[in-house]
Amino acid sequence: MADEKDLRLFVDRRQTDSIKWSKYAGTDIIPLWIADMDFPSPKAVVDAICRRARHGVFGYGTPPQSLFHVFAKRMEKLYNWTIEPEWIIWLPGLVSGINLACRAVGNPGDTVLTTIPVYPPFLSAPGYSQRKLKTVKMHIDSGRWRIDFDRLEKAVTSDTKLFLLCSPHNPTGRVFTYDELSTLARICLEHDLVICSDEIHCDLILKPGCRHIPTACLGRDIARRTITLMAPSKTFNIPGLGCSMAIIPDPEIRKKFKAAKAGIVPDVNIMGFVAAEAALRDDSPWLAKILDYLRSNMELVLSRINAAKVVSMLPVEGTYLAWIDVRSTGLEDPAAFFEKAGVALSDGGNFGTPGFVRLNFGCHRDLLQKALERIERALKRLELGQVPAGCRCQAVDNRF
Ligand SMILES: Cc1ncc(COP(=O)(O)O)c(C=O)c1O
Repeated sequence: MADEKDLRLFVDRRQTDSIKWSKYAGTDIIPLWIADMDFPSPKAVVDAICRRARHGVFGYGTPPQSLFHVFAKRMEKLYNWTIEPEWIIWLPGLVSGINLACRAVGNPGDTVLTTIPVYPPFLSAPGYSQRKLKTVKMHIDSGRWRIDFDRLEKAVTSDTKLFLLCSPHNPTGRVFTYDELSTLARICLEHDLVICSDEIHCDLILKPGCRHIPTACLGRDIARRTITLMAPSKTFNIPGLGCSMAIIPDPEIRKKFKAAKAGIVPDVNIMGFVAAEAALRDDSPWLAKILDYLRSNMELVLSRINAAKVVSMLPVEGTYLAWIDVRSTGLEDPAAFFEKAGVALSDGGNFGTPGFVRLNFGCHRDLLQKALERIERALKRLELGQVPAGCRCQAVDNRF
């Protein structure tokens, strides 16, 4: 069990220009939406930033060699994955990487394939790059969200050039198995698709027995067609410092990715490099404690949500995000309904699947308890027919 005092969990984020908290400033709405955690980063990260700030000169930066070494060492240790320095392209954000992948692979008019539900920028990036978007629905099988590989393969057309994968998966919390990833890899190989594998949540594995497997580690032929996107941002709660990387072993894909980036995507902020290196070097128990804390938060959300009956969720294997099925409530705008009840959640419609909400449990447990009480009370009122105007709909689509 995480030691709360040690983690310094009681941090007030109001008045700190946080997107998560500012949106509801001056209200009593608990913000459990955008994916950052309310916990302070490891002490080593805070110390490194303070040291760099005291230097007082903040000119243009360059990626430190030492950062590459610490990252490469970590990949070797965690995944037995050997990375060459030239494979890495540093980015000020991972969403830029998703958009660059869409521009770098194929041509305007080609199709980009992904599964839904999925992190919303997966759905907007193809259009921003004059590509067509094709989506295949995930489904529940044996108590786990799954990719429907038959439908996925059938959805591939001659103009499909890129598959966007989120692994571990936001929002369902799936940590894909070796077999699942291998099936996906086989489809991409047979149909000559490049894979953009967003692995930003790779360290946040909650379920015992689950482990993250980088897509590029499935084999040399897969590595050659994979753009891996990683960042220390979710793991160490430093997304506001913007330091991510694309790892692209294939020189041709890398060249196109760099060309798409040229003149548009800025360099990484010097503080981003400092924070990333300190985070990746951190060997304190910070991450283990955070993961323990998140596991307990997840168990709490799981039991309380499923006890409410009219809503449901599956255990979260990775990430700090719970994907809640609210279709049986018949609510037309579930996010608005819960917001009126005092809890801000992310709307499933933005992930390509209305009828769901996403709850971020990377927060203090007291706050989570309070939010869950509000959700339970709101659902009780719903059962009794006391629904705020504009939230109820007649027809419920329970197929998925
Ligand atoms: C799967 C996934 N990719 C990317 C991002 C955001 O990356 P960045 O803030 O570095 O652009 C998020 C944030 O929630 C995410 O969940």
